Amino acid sequence: MTPNIQIVFASMSGRNRAIAGHLQAQLASKSQTLVTEISQADAFELPQADAVIVVSYTYHDGDLPDEAQDFFEDLKEIDLERTKFAVLGSSSKKHIHFGRAVDYLTMQLNSSNGEQVADSVKIDQDPDDADWARVDQLAQRVLKSVED
Ligand SMILES: Cc1cc2nc3c(=O)[nH]c(=O)nc-3n(C[C@H](O)[C@H](O)[C@H](O)COP(=O)(O)O)c2cc1C
Repeated sequence: MTPNIQIVFASMSGRNRAIAGHLQAQLASKSQTLVTEISQADAFELPQADAVIVVSYTYHDGDLPDEAQDFFEDLKEIDLERTKFAVLGSSSKKHIHFGRAVDYLTMQLNSSNGEQVADSVKIDQDPDDADWARVDQLAQRVLKSVED
């Protein structure tokens, strides 16, 4: 059966939205992918997915974006039942807590009994070629994990 991969993203100025779109393009031929902006995403539906990829920027002083807070709080309530997951995001090295939202989301998805299938990827602002290669590698790891 075609695997179902949910991509949830938070983006203010468009970088993480573009990364989410790129992931969808990478995965679309081999899976059913649904891309949802994080304030519209329902964390309680995630256990039904074969895999979840969360893409987020970091805001404030190393914190989650405001619009990601409800999703994050809901994650604390759920059992992901070993749903595969990966986390990545563009943020900025100009800030002390570079990509901290990626760390928080990774920790929480693990705590919620998800199965992390790729190392988390932090990108400094606009992705360069090496960053896109890391994004593609993450996508391939997720795909392989649901095809096994
Ligand atoms: C007010 C403000 C605070 C930010 N704080 C952080 C931060 O603490 N850590 C970090 O790594 N990036 C921080 N950033 C940088 C963004 O995460 C970065 O620009 C990211 O690429 C934006 O992604 P987007 O284009 O998807 O919105 C901050 C940006 C703004 C505007």
